[in-house]
Amino acid sequence: MSSGTFELFPEESRVTAMRAAAVRALDHVEPGSLLGVGTGATVGQLIEALATSPHRPAAAVASSRRTAHLLLAAGIDVVPLPESGRIPLCIDGADEVDGALRLIKGGGGAHAREKVLACAADLFVCIVDDSKVVSALGAGPVPVEVLPFARHWVARRLSELGGRSVHRVDFVTDNGNELLDVHGLDLGDPCSVECAIACIPGVVACGIFALRPADVTYVGDATGAVVEMRPPTR
Ligand code: A5P
Repeated sequence: MSSGTFELFPEESRVTAMRAAAVRALDHVEPGSLLGVGTGATVGQLIEALATSPHRPAAAVASSRRTAHLLLAAGIDVVPLPESGRIPLCIDGADEVDGALRLIKGGGGAHAREKVLACAADLFVCIVDDSKVVSALGAGPVPVEVLPFARHWVARRLSELGGRSVHRVDFVTDNGNELLDVHGLDLGDPCSVECAIACIPGVVACGIFALRPADVTYVGDATGAVVEMRPPTR
């Protein structure tokens, strides 16, 4: 059984902020389309809004059992990733977002499937409250999903990258794996660190989303206002 680090009862102002960002993202959902859906409290707000929206997808690909459960409760069919490996749109939350729309994810431990959906999506939309916007990634730890067999080995390799791994105890991912929360990594070049971690045998996925950043991020605040962030133009 998986357990996450979601806040069961986030404070009212944060709910307002999350809800505002989630509602703004609905504009991207074509009625009758296929939607990839992430995991977390902000995504919970999205699913609640979808339930009564004219922008209802025909079906959704869920990144976790928790999300699948919420989608079904909202009357939205849950289907596997299509054979094409492509979905038009994925909407998800994040733990950190920087100015280039690179993310840290995995606070809820669902980032392995979330990364697949983000990479499979033609458009990846991120929804957050304003506490998640950072000037540089690395405010918190980087979650890394590992094969249970390889946990100690992976922790050693991560220490060679400058990271101190903390085992997330009593937590099993939906994929049957374990999680390390890695502190102290230098994320000055997040793409390189994402690659380096991905190359360690036994790593399933790390929570750095720099190689596949969001295409657009909606940031809600406690007043219900929403700011749209786009990647910097080169
Ligand atoms: C789940 O594994 C995470 O990647 C979440 O998407 C992220 O932690 C944001 O969650 P909240 O919306 O609950 O803050």
